[in-house]
Amino acid sequence: MSTLRLGLIGIGNIGRHHAEYLLAGKVGRCELRAVCAPNPVKLEPWKERGLAVWTDAGAMMRSGTIDAVLIATPHYQHTSLGIEALEAGLHVMVEKPISAHKADAERLLKCAAQHPKQILAGMFQLRVEPRYTRIRELLESGRLGKLQRVSWLITDWFRTDAYYSSGGWRATWRGEGGGVLLNQCLHNLDVLSWILGMPSSVRGFAQLGRWHNIEVEDQVTAYLEWSHGATGVFITSTGEAPGTNRLELAGSKGRLVLENNKLTFLENETDALEWSRTATVGFSKPAVTEHDLPFENHPAPHAALMDNFVAAVLDGAPLIAPGADGMHSVELANSMVYSSILGQSIQMPLDGAAWEAELQRRIRDSRFEKTVREVTTDDFAQSFRR
Ligand SMILES: NC(=O)c1ccc[n+]([C@@H]2O[C@H](COP(=O)([O-])OP(=O)(O)OC[C@H]3O[C@@H](n4cnc5c(N)ncnc54)[C@H](O)[C@@H]3O)[C@@H](O)[C@H]2O)c1
Repeated sequence: MSTLRLGLIGIGNIGRHHAEYLLAGKVGRCELRAVCAPNPVKLEPWKERGLAVWTDAGAMMRSGTIDAVLIATPHYQHTSLGIEALEAGLHVMVEKPISAHKADAERLLKCAAQHPKQILAGMFQLRVEPRYTRIRELLESGRLGKLQRVSWLITDWFRTDAYYSSGGWRATWRGEGGGVLLNQCLHNLDVLSWILGMPSSVRGFAQLGRWHNIEVEDQVTAYLEWSHGATGVFITSTGEAPGTNRLELAGSKGRLVLENNKLTFLENETDALEWSRTATVGFSKPAVTEHDLPFENHPAPHAALMDNFVAAVLDGAPLIAPGADGMHSVELANSMVYSSILGQSIQMPLDGAAWEAELQRRIRDSRFEKTVREVTTDDFAQSFRR
């Protein structure tokens, strides 16, 4: 195979974005051949642009006209369509989250393991952003010393009521499976697990529908512990503006801060724990050198992940975001909410079946009345985390 023939499932906000850069030829050796949406009217413009159109994703998958799918539908369908695509012999790039909850993610990954020659990747585009690759490299190099504390205050995922009304699936247990953690912040939870590994315990305090008329969480504070000794807090909201995005990592050799598109490393000239053990005075700290670590934002992170997906299929290149890694962010999002509901810490790994049972109970008992209306989403591109 010299070119990957791709079918796109779901042409909502992000599906349209994917279609545009693919049709503009931004991903080499990848030909967008077909799009699928349940509503034929929405398919008309794509038909006019020369694409095959389908209202039934299964029929598209089994048509023999595509080698891979990009799934850009609401969350629960990521699992069902992902499994269907793998069973049809296709490679799969699935939008985040890889599934609506951990038990579903396990089902999807089990199916992928049964089809080892096919690629399953997740759309976690922050992994190509230089600010995060730089932080990851610094941690791996040991330059921060022993990691002591992480805090991520990420409250600038502001969303309006109109946003939540723009789709029947949004912000419901039945359609989305969670709120700010599972949707917006999932990218940050992916980065957190990617740079630090999974925590050993999670205690979440999640407020459901605190700032919007929704039934899922839109404000969360979580406390995390890692077996390597670090502790952390993760705070998020979709109800706060202007909001903050500050990631701070404190190690024995210094403090790294990412805020306002600026990465700064305050480097201790002596390891602080060593200083603490050996100093003969009581209050002074090691001398510090400040380093500004300039970076550029990636110009097209989604296209970069698709480019890597194509290289994985055609050349056997390693994936930047393997599907299996997608489990981590789902598990963190689920754990923070479940811990809050239980009123106690969750020792990881999370019992996925227990959370699924709780979720099913919530879906069954829901009295939530969802309002859906046509909403302009022309400002969607502003939602991409820069
Ligand atoms: N990676 C990113 O930067 C990013 C950004 C936004 C959204 N997302 C993710 O992408 C997914 C979609 O989000 P969105 O904002 O585009 O939602 P959306 O509601 O705007 O679009 C989803 C589309 O999927 C279609 N759909 C539903 N079931 C389908 C099926 N069985 N077959 C074909 N089409 C079907 C719907 O008709 C709808 O048009 C979500 O998982 C979301 O978390 C990722």
